[in-house]
Amino acid sequence: MSLAQPSLDTLEAALDMAVRAPSVHNSQPWRWRIDGRTVDLYADPGRHLVATDPQRRGLVLSCGAALHHLRVAMAVLGWSADVRHLPNPADTEHLATVEFRPREPRPADFALAAALMHRRSDRRRYSWWQVPSPYVRRISSQATRFGATARHVPDGLRSRLARPAREAARRHAADPAYQRELAAWSGRRGTTDGVPAANTPCPGADDEIPVRVFNEPGLADRTEHPDAAEWLVVCTPADDRLSRLRAGEAISAMLLSATELGLSTCLQTEPLGVPELRDDIRAQVLQNCAHPQAMVRIGWVPTSAAPLPHTPRRPLEEVVER
Ligand SMILES: Cc1cc2nc3c(=O)[nH]c(=O)nc-3n(C[C@H](O)[C@H](O)[C@H](O)COP(=O)(O)O)c2cc1C
Repeated sequence: MSLAQPSLDTLEAALDMAVRAPSVHNSQPWRWRIDGRTVDLYADPGRHLVATDPQRRGLVLSCGAALHHLRVAMAVLGWSADVRHLPNPADTEHLATVEFRPREPRPADFALAAALMHRRSDRRRYSWWQVPSPYVRRISSQATRFGATARHVPDGLRSRLARPAREAARRHAADPAYQRELAAWSGRRGTTDGVPAANTPCPGADDEIPVRVFNEPGLADRTEHPDAAEWLVVCTPADDRLSRLRAGEAISAMLLSATELGLSTCLQTEPLGVPELRDDIRAQVLQNCAHPQAMVRIGWVPTSAAPLPHTPRRPLEEVVER
C-alpha cells in the first residue's frame, strides 16, 4: 500500500465535485465521512422519497452516481480510487469505502471532469437531429465496466416503454402521497435541494414516451415537433443493493460520456417506481433477462436553446463529516 495520501483540501475539492451527481428529485441522499486516508459513503435514509421511490432503488442509484463522480474528481486531482462496495454487512447504509493511490491524470480524466461540471438534466424536447449509432454504442458500452448493461430501445419498440410510462403518470396523478411528495420536492425556488421550477418545462402532450411531470414548470421549451431522442434502459443481472449501487456508477459514466460528446441527457424512472409496471418493462423490453434500473433519454438540444441553470446542491458542511 502506498503511504502517500490526499490532503483534506483535495478530498473536499473532490467531494464538492462528487455531490454534483444526479439524484432522484435532487434529494442528494448521501452522507460522506472523511477518516484519514479513506472516504466512506453512506445512504441518508432521512432523504428517502417513500412514495416516489418505494423500493429505495433511486436512493441507492443516486449514491452510486455520486460514488462514480468521486472517482472522476479524484482522477483529475491525481489520485486513483480503490472502492470497496458494501464494506460492512452489519450496516446497510454504509455503501462504500474508498482509498486512494497517487496517479498522474490523463487527458481523458480532464475531459470527463469537464463533462461532470457541464452536465445537467435537460428535460426539454430535443431537436430532430439523429444521435449517430456509434455515439449510442459508445455511451452504452460504459455500463459494462460496472456490471450493468444499457439496452437501446429502437423506434419500433418504444411503445413498450410508452405504455407503462403513461400508466405510471395516470396512477401517480391520482395518488395523494405521490402528489404531496412531488409538491414538496419540485417547483423549488432558491433552495439547495429539490427540483427547481427553472429546470422543468411543461410536458408535451404529444411526447412519444411521457416523461415525469413536476410541479410549477418554469422552463420555456419552444420546440414543438416530436424529437429524435434515443432511449436506453440500464439493467443489471440481479436486483440487490450491490447491483443498484453499481448501476448508479454505470449511469454516471454513461451521462458523462454523453455530455463529453455534446449530447443532452435526462434520466427517467417514473414507471420503475411501480412494481407491476417495472415487471412489465422487464418482460416487454428486456425479455425477463435482466432487471431495469433506469431509463436514459439522449439527444441534441436545438442550437437556439438557452443554457440551463445549474441545479443547486446542499453545502458540503451538511453532507460531510470529518
Ligand atoms: C435515480 C434517479 C432517478 C431520476 N429520475 C428522474 C425522472 O424520472 N425524471 C426526471 O426528469 N429526472 C429524473 N432524475 C434527474 C434528477 O431529477 C436530477 O438529477 C436532479 O434534479 C439534479 O439535477 P441535475 O441532474 O441537473 O444536476 C433522476 C435522477 C436519478 C439519479
